[in-house]
Parts: sequence; C-alpha cells; structure tokens
Amino acid sequence: MPEKILVVDDDALMRLMVTKTLSTEGFEFLEAENGVQAVEKAIAHQPDLIIMDVNMPEMDGYEACQRIRSNPITSAIPIILVTSLSTVEDKIKGFDSGADDYIPKPFDPIELTMRVNVLLRRMARIKATVKAPEVRPGKVIAFFSLRGGIGTTTLATNTAIALTRLWGTPTALVDLVLACGQCALMMNIPPRNSWADLARIPNEEIDIEVLRNVLRPHESGVLVLVAPNHPEEGEMIDGPKVSHVLDLLKKEYPYIILDLPHEFCEKTLAGLDTADEIWLLLAPELASVRATLLAMETFQMLNYPLERVKLLLNWTFERRGLARKAIEKTLKREIDVVIPYASEPLVKSINLGVPAVLDDTNPPLVALFENFAYLLSREDHKNNPPVNPTPTYQRVMEYLAEKNSHG
Ligand SMILES: Nc1ncnc2c1ncn2[C@@H]1O[C@H](COP(=O)(O)OP(=O)(O)OP(=O)(O)O)[C@@H](O)[C@H]1O
Ligand SMILES: [Mg+2]
Repeated sequence: MPEKILVVDDDALMRLMVTKTLSTEGFEFLEAENGVQAVEKAIAHQPDLIIMDVNMPEMDGYEACQRIRSNPITSAIPIILVTSLSTVEDKIKGFDSGADDYIPKPFDPIELTMRVNVLLRRMARIKATVKAPEVRPGKVIAFFSLRGGIGTTTLATNTAIALTRLWGTPTALVDLVLACGQCALMMNIPPRNSWADLARIPNEEIDIEVLRNVLRPHESGVLVLVAPNHPEEGEMIDGPKVSHVLDLLKKEYPYIILDLPHEFCEKTLAGLDTADEIWLLLAPELASVRATLLAMETFQMLNYPLERVKLLLNWTFERRGLARKAIEKTLKREIDVVIPYASEPLVKSINLGVPAVLDDTNPPLVALFENFAYLLSREDHKNNPPVNPTPTYQRVMEYLAEKNSHG
C-alpha cells in the first residue's frame, strides 16, 4: 500500500508544489486547507506523514500540531512544518508544538524529498518493532430498546468514546436512527456529511475510502456515521445498504458501535444481524420491562443465541423504580449491568455537547463508562496488554486491581 501524506496549506498553489515535488515517490496524497481540517483528516485517514504550513486561517499549524500530538489516535504521526517564519523563536515554537521536523519556505525540493523519506523510514522501523496486530474483524456492539428515552444514544456515544480512549484506536459509531438521530448533536459534531451522502451512491461503489470521507471525526478519535438532516433522506437507506456499510467498517475498525431505532425495522434488523453483542436497555418501570420481554421474544424468533444479548438496567429516573430482583424474575434473566441515576451531569453533557465520559469534573461517571468499555472489549485485546497503555487503560487496571484486593 502506498504511504499516505496529508498536505496542509491554505494556499492551493503551495499544496500543488509539495505534491508535484513528491509525485515521483509513489505516495498517495490528501489535502487540507487549515488546521481544523488537518486535525479532522488526521483522525479520519490516519496518514503516514503530515506536511503542514504554519500561517493558516481558522487554526494555525502550531495549534493543529499540538492537537494531533495530544490525541492518542494521531500522536505517532510525524509532522513536518513548512513556514516562512524563520527566527529561532519560530523554530522553538514549532518543536514545542510537537513537530518532528521543520523546513523553511520557499523549500528546496531535494531537501523536502529527503526529509520526508527520512521520517517515513524512521516510522516504518518503529512500526516494524511493534508487533503487527492480527487482522481480525471488528466487534460490533449494538444498543437497543423498543422504548425511547431510555438512554440508548447516551450509552452508544459514551461507550464509543471510552473504547477509543481505552485502546487508542479509532472506533466507528453508526447512528442508525435515520429519522432523527442525535449522536452528532450529543457530541457537538457539525453534521457536514451523513448517511444522506451514501443514499445516492450504489452499494458496489461504496468502499472504505468513500466511507472515510463520509465519517465525521470527533476530537476523541471516534468516527461517526451521522444520521441525515432530513427524515426523508433516511428513508432512502435500506437494509442491504446498512449491511454493506457495516461489513466494510468491520474490516477497518476494531469496534463498531450502533445506536439503533426503537422499532424492529429493516435497518434495525440489518444492525442486529451484524452485531456480535446486543445491549438491550431498560428502565425500572413496567412499560419498559414489557418492551424488553417483547424484544427478547423477537430475538428468540430470530434465533439469536441468548449469550449475544445483554441486559442493561438504566436508572433514568430517581425514585420508586421496580426492584432489580423483581425485574429479573419477570424477565427470567439476570441483569448484566446497572447504570445509576445521574440526571444532572447527563443533562449538562447533552446541553454542552460534551459526553459525560469526557467530563473531568465527574470522576465517578467517567470511571463508570471507562470500566463498562473494558467489560465490552474484545478478548484478544484484554489478553494482550498494550505496549503503550493509554491513561484510560491505566485507570481501568487500577480500578480492577483495587476491586480484586477487596475480594
Ligand atoms: N442514568 C441516567 N440517569 C439520568 N438520566 C439519564 C440516564 N440515562 C439517560 N438519561 C437521560 O435520559 C434522556 C434520554 O436519553 P437518550 O437520548 O440517550 O435516550 P434514547 O433512548 O436514545 O432516546 P431517544 O428515544 O430520543 O432516541 C436524556 O435526557 C438523558 O440525559
Ligand atoms: Mg436516541
């Protein structure tokens, strides 16, 4: 596979000069016009190298460099800053922001080619020493309930972010509530691209590169397939399209999270069929328990193995809910996970567009979602501790060690 280089400059002519200079080296190029786009494309496309201008509108090269460096998803990507600023202070600022190399503008074509190749060779050596990950299909985890307002989207968004921060790899989050999905809103992602773009493309023309351009990156590294802006666009998406897209995502990302509609429609079934694990959500009230019973009966009719379905009791209200034991007796099944009532932080998080798992002011809730993400993680991940553990991984390990020491 050719190495991918992201060229960032607000001046199209400069981008052209860079790509022309390197055109004989057999690279594949991506382009961005400012720092904001650079950060987004770095997350979505995982380039092998970034060549970036410093003075740009919206976000300059220094800030983009810092953001790319501080995100575990993009932190290892080498960055060359190209700039006409050439004082010692400028250079120091460049290196302080995390750039690997620095090249003055106008650049010398031979020097640029040489520096690019040096950095790419160094990266290739680092990658070779880290054991190549086994290519296994991603784990698809669906959140579902036949009743609305039970926390499906809250769970799907927070879990996707927690998994990304736990393993330091991008997670795909697929909003299948095509009539009025809320994932983008809850994560404060401007819904530029969405399922609507895919509605117009025949399935055989949709490949992973097409998807990469439609997925919207969240700053955490989660890549969101956003619901369309208008419900009628959602109606143009059918079951086979959902299955096709999920199959492609499975080949690319270690985790794929689904936020499903509250009904058994064609899209829901396509999602459920692909899911390795289905988290059925319920609240401690009668209507919700009844909806759960109905869903479980339907799963049985669909011949889904029982162990694929997990029960999550979410306390969406504060008091006088049904007792856990009584619910378990009615459902003839144990509840796997209980989420306590946490109205205030969750309302705040929705209004700010900052999912609760990122809210440093509420450590217990952060821990709750991080530990939940570990519980959902693939066995091959849990059995192979990462060489460079993320802060989230370290926190989860501390929590587990403490739990074990208390029996
Ligand atoms: N554990 C909890 N404690 C308190 N409030 C909660 C809890 N979980 C979810 N909520 C609140 O319940 C509301 C509905 O949550 P959410 O939108 O995630 O549910 P949903 O099932 O996706 O709903 P919809 O039917 O709109 O798709 C939100 O205001 C959310 O903050
Ligand atoms: Mg929802």
